[in-house]
Amino acid sequence: MATATENAIREFAADQSKGADCLRIKELEEQQRSLMNSVICGFNQLLDLRDLGTGVHSTRLAEWAVRVGRKLGIEEIDLHQLEVAALLHDIGKIGIPDSILKKEGKLTDEERALMNKHPEYSWSILRLFPGLDKASLYALHHHESYNGRGYPGGLKAGEIPIGSRIVAVIDAYDAMISNRCYRKGFPHEEAVRRLVADSGAQFDPIVVQAFVEIAGQEVADVFLATGTSSSAVI
Ligand SMILES: [Fe+2]
Repeated sequence: MATATENAIREFAADQSKGADCLRIKELEEQQRSLMNSVICGFNQLLDLRDLGTGVHSTRLAEWAVRVGRKLGIEEIDLHQLEVAALLHDIGKIGIPDSILKKEGKLTDEERALMNKHPEYSWSILRLFPGLDKASLYALHHHESYNGRGYPGGLKAGEIPIGSRIVAVIDAYDAMISNRCYRKGFPHEEAVRRLVADSGAQFDPIVVQAFVEIAGQEVADVFLATGTSSSAVI
């Protein structure tokens, strides 16, 4: 029969072992998080190399997406998914030929149909990563319109995942302020005017309002600090 001392030693050893297991699990979780962040950064870099991302823009816009999400009550646990979707929603464009992606003239119906496949391609890539289920869903629906005239699902209003509605606004703003070979990017004020004009049609009005408040504060601050034009601070 075990003595009280032997029992105490056994309990102590079991506690030590549990503590070591917990530490190991934490270590593994930390390694997995770090690996996932590296993969996300790598994909973001890939977008830049293919000239499909906007470098510094995309990082700042992803931060704003998270702040819009927080303001609209998205749960903390889903904000990371939103951040990833804001960064990588167009990753599927790597499956679209340059002849279409970089075409300067109007796309033919056939080319447009192929171009419009990119959200599905993004979904098919992101869904392969463990833990990015919502990010892949947000990417799949980032070209839906609030009035139901978008793609791929033709979803409308609340049927569109909130993360997708946020990414749609961020994406449109980014496209408007970025310089293109055929035109200079719009100033912040003009981009905002266009977002507001399309509220309720293409964009969720609540998301536009939250985004405009956040972006407006930031642009003014950066403008004051740098003295540059507001169209060049993003
Ligand atoms: Fe897109």
